[in-house]
Amino acid sequence: MSETIILGIESSCDDTSAAIIKGNQILSNIAANQTIHNEYGGVVPELASRAHQQNIIPVVTKSFSKANIQQNDICAIGFTRGPGLLGSLLVGTSFAKSLAMSLNVPLIEVNHLQAHILAHFIDDANPQPPKFPFLCLTVSGGHTMIVLVKDYFDMEIIGKTIDDAAGEAFDKIGKIFDLDYPAGPIIDKLAKEGNPNAFQFNKPKLDNYDYSFSGIKTSVLYFIQKEVKKNPNFIQENLKDLCASIQKAIIEILMKKLEKAAKDLNITEVAIAGGVSANSALRKAMQANHEKLGWNIYIPKFEYTTDNAAMIAMVAKLKYERGEFTDLRTTATSKYDL
Ligand code: KG4
Ligand code: ZN
Repeated sequence: MSETIILGIESSCDDTSAAIIKGNQILSNIAANQTIHNEYGGVVPELASRAHQQNIIPVVTKSFSKANIQQNDICAIGFTRGPGLLGSLLVGTSFAKSLAMSLNVPLIEVNHLQAHILAHFIDDANPQPPKFPFLCLTVSGGHTMIVLVKDYFDMEIIGKTIDDAAGEAFDKIGKIFDLDYPAGPIIDKLAKEGNPNAFQFNKPKLDNYDYSFSGIKTSVLYFIQKEVKKNPNFIQENLKDLCASIQKAIIEILMKKLEKAAKDLNITEVAIAGGVSANSALRKAMQANHEKLGWNIYIPKFEYTTDNAAMIAMVAKLKYERGEFTDLRTTATSKYDL
């Protein structure tokens, strides 16, 4: 039997992406990143939706040509149905539905969060994929959660943020420092040359596996306001140390709960996923726990960390094998439980 070839489409936030998967192997993974939001300090939903409309056809066309695949070769189309920004999701959803109808192939809805986690099963993602059950710290601009992954489609959220997501904290604190959006990667880069012990920020005290990031954001804001009153150049003069210190605090908060969950559940298979899993300090902390605690760690390749259609195609392929198809009358949904 020839291997399944599937087109995946992602448009949940500000990245328009299309990918072709053959078996578990990614043949192309194309993304158009929207830079129009940089000056606003966050994604503007209306602008995102309009940019998706402009990008979707070129991105899908490029994904076919890069993969050297004809439209008639595909067996199904997977698309992100949610969660995300409704206006953005609608573009990918409508496009996927129309193309599935015209090519007469099945449509497969994909949960964006499941996709971040299941990206670990793409052929070139890990030398060995994680073994069930594993824990996956899923950290992005919209979500921060510790997920107990019992099987491909049997996942339980055991802890999550009660306010801001970790990526959101990076981005909002970056805005205080007058950095472009998204600030996460910029803070990561600047932190490399800064002293992580230069400044201390209060950490949340929550008992279970839940997170909170709004307190640290507020404490950074008050601290900066106070210092800037004394020295208007405070941020510029201390930017690298500020970035290193804030990054250290956020990663410590993330790792503490993950370590507690791994210990309590006696699990040593531990993965990270989502945009913030690109963070170099988080990757180092995982590596340290591999050495210190004997964790088998799963860290996604950079192209599978931030939003991408390769992960959508991967989930679609798993669903295709299970015969789980989606009715053409389906519609996008901004909320979509794991
Ligand atoms: O998964 P993603 O692309 O989109 C969502 O589903 O939200 O994640 C985007 C988030 C942004 O908040 C961005 O600042 C953050 O991931 N991010 C990072 C890094 N790269 C991306 N945060 C910290 N360090 C990074 N290197
Ligand atoms: Zn995402």
